[in-house]
Amino acid sequence: MRAIVVDRPGAEDAMRLGDVQTPVAGPGEILVRVAAAAVNRADLLQRQGLYPPPPGASPVLGLECAGTVAAVGAGVTGWQVGERAMALLAGGGYAEQVVVPAVCAMKVPARLSFEEAAAVPEVFLTVFLNLFQLGALPGAGWALVHGGGSGIGTAAIQMAKQAGAHVVVTAGTDEKCRRCIALGADAAINYRTGDFAAEAKTLTGGAGVDVVLDSIGASYLAKNLASLATGGRLVVIGLMGGAKGEISLGDLLVRRLSVIGSTLRTRPAAEKGALVSAFVARFGPALEDGRLRPVVDRVLPLSEAPAAHRAMKASEHFGKIVLRVA
Ligand SMILES: NC(=O)c1ccc[n+]([C@@H]2O[C@H](COP(=O)([O-])OP(=O)(O)OC[C@H]3O[C@@H](n4cnc5c(N)ncnc54)[C@H](OP(=O)(O)O)[C@@H]3O)[C@@H](O)[C@H]2O)c1
Repeated sequence: MRAIVVDRPGAEDAMRLGDVQTPVAGPGEILVRVAAAAVNRADLLQRQGLYPPPPGASPVLGLECAGTVAAVGAGVTGWQVGERAMALLAGGGYAEQVVVPAVCAMKVPARLSFEEAAAVPEVFLTVFLNLFQLGALPGAGWALVHGGGSGIGTAAIQMAKQAGAHVVVTAGTDEKCRRCIALGADAAINYRTGDFAAEAKTLTGGAGVDVVLDSIGASYLAKNLASLATGGRLVVIGLMGGAKGEISLGDLLVRRLSVIGSTLRTRPAAEKGALVSAFVARFGPALEDGRLRPVVDRVLPLSEAPAAHRAMKASEHFGKIVLRVA
């Protein structure tokens, strides 16, 4: 089958369309004929050799996809050949076919195209895990989400609003801030010109936010902690601004703050399956009826994966960049 291969880790042009062996669905797995796969920031790191796939995962890039079930492995219940599936992958999405544990796949809502469905699993499940499960965002609480115009950010805005919470985001341009507000954010701060910690305090009447969903890391650490209310939680999911920072443990004690780190990709399939079930139970109806909808910035053919990565690196996009495979 055709897939994007990376012969030697490197720049965008290290990726080319090549031939690899078609995977076979083992026990508990389904084989998906991929119609579309979405690009994630982590793919850029993997391409450069900086984020190796977990043991046993496909070496092909791609953390999420949508397509049609082509085969069902032994012991799988609830899936039939020909059904539309969207799947959370540990790898392998930039290819014509991929195998995935059946528990990591979800039915595609009728109103979503394959290209939209491919943009759901990684970001909506990451936000569900980190903002709602680990971050325990209260019903009428406040979240601060960095990178409001990212795949993660556009999912977080919608899910926080669906849950009845308030959400303030950061973004790098006034235009992205405007689009975040149009998507439902209560406030959006251009991080190049504004002070998000001061704004978060003002918006919450001086209290601070309940949860910070952070993909920046070290360079935002102090201001993230300053943005939190007493008892608040900083959930770190990315390190775009560095990995090493200094924390005043005294401040954590006195203000009863929590700092949580988390990755989704390396979790065992059973844990991911439990996450998928809990997500579908809570947010499935909103995806079905269109209250939640992935924001697709652009769709490119699989062969243009290098252009897709360049666009993401430059942060040209708002929402998700999708690769059309079939
Ligand atoms: N731990 C996990 O399990 C997990 C899972 C999925 C994703 N992630 C992480 O989540 C992050 C977002 O992923 P994605 O795929 O949605 O990427 P993406 O769409 O490329 O988003 C990155 C965003 O960050 C913004 N940004 C860059 N510097 C910023 C800064 N200093 N302050 C605020 N925003 C800034 C960029 O746009 P502007 O600068 O133009 O605003 C861009 O919108 C990545 O760090 C990724 O690794 C983690």
